[in-house]
Amino acid sequence: MYDGVGYDIYDRIVARDRWLNNKTILDIGCFVGKKTERYLDEGAKEVIGIDLSKRGIATAKQFEKPGLRFFNISSSELARKYPAYFDTIVSFTVFEHISRESLPAVLEDIHTLLKKGGLCLIAFNHYLDRFGSHLANFIYHAHPTLLFNEKHVFEYCNRKLSQYHQIGQMGYYPPEYKFSKEQNSDVYLELNKVTSEDFKSIVQRSGLKLVRAVPYSQTTFMRLMNLLLPRIELFKGSYLYLLEK
Ligand SMILES: C[S@@+](CC[C@H](N)C(=O)[O-])C[C@H]1O[C@@H](n2cnc3c(N)ncnc32)[C@H](O)[C@@H]1O
Repeated sequence: MYDGVGYDIYDRIVARDRWLNNKTILDIGCFVGKKTERYLDEGAKEVIGIDLSKRGIATAKQFEKPGLRFFNISSSELARKYPAYFDTIVSFTVFEHISRESLPAVLEDIHTLLKKGGLCLIAFNHYLDRFGSHLANFIYHAHPTLLFNEKHVFEYCNRKLSQYHQIGQMGYYPPEYKFSKEQNSDVYLELNKVTSEDFKSIVQRSGLKLVRAVPYSQTTFMRLMNLLLPRIELFKGSYLYLLEK
């Protein structure tokens, strides 16, 4: 189901003629690659997907066809092989999983990989947004870690996850996956808790230009509260960022 979500989010910030049609596109953090495949089917010239998950790329490779390729390599390895190759780089709900220390280097890789004038579209969930804790599948509360001790919340979700696995659901998370603060060996889903303000200042130092940042998850209530209390992260929601080289 998750693979069907968010494919067309980029249309909210820039016309398809600028980011998709006849473009060479890189999808960073493509996992099993269903969205990546759609970029090609909907008009891209060539699409490459990369992900650090061996398991994700092994599945994605089954969908390879002319114009669509997948690699289990890092953005820095790709940047050495394909400098200034891409018109567009997209990344959907990946940047909240990249450690705060690694974010500047990944943005530097994006700078290297893009052609001059190329675009980068990044959508990611900020931790204090409604679904930012990534626990919505397991716990019916938008902000569980604000209310309860994080350790207990994770224990509860791990119990739920193992129940879901027993009945054959939640294939997105491998059976051995555990919510915790520690790095998981194959699915890189730890959360960096980077806020929108943090991210904008990291972008500023990357050499890429931040063209626009559009909130995509605000409810009417959040929008109103954000007008009244613009500094409170809870009401800002998550953002779609448009960067340009
Ligand atoms: C929530 S999933 C999103 C998958 C896909 N973009 C989608 O929308 O279905 C996050 C993915 O990011 C990958 N990931 C995390 N850090 C990464 C990095 N530095 N480079 C590439 N992929 C990364 C994870 O392995 C995982 O597959």
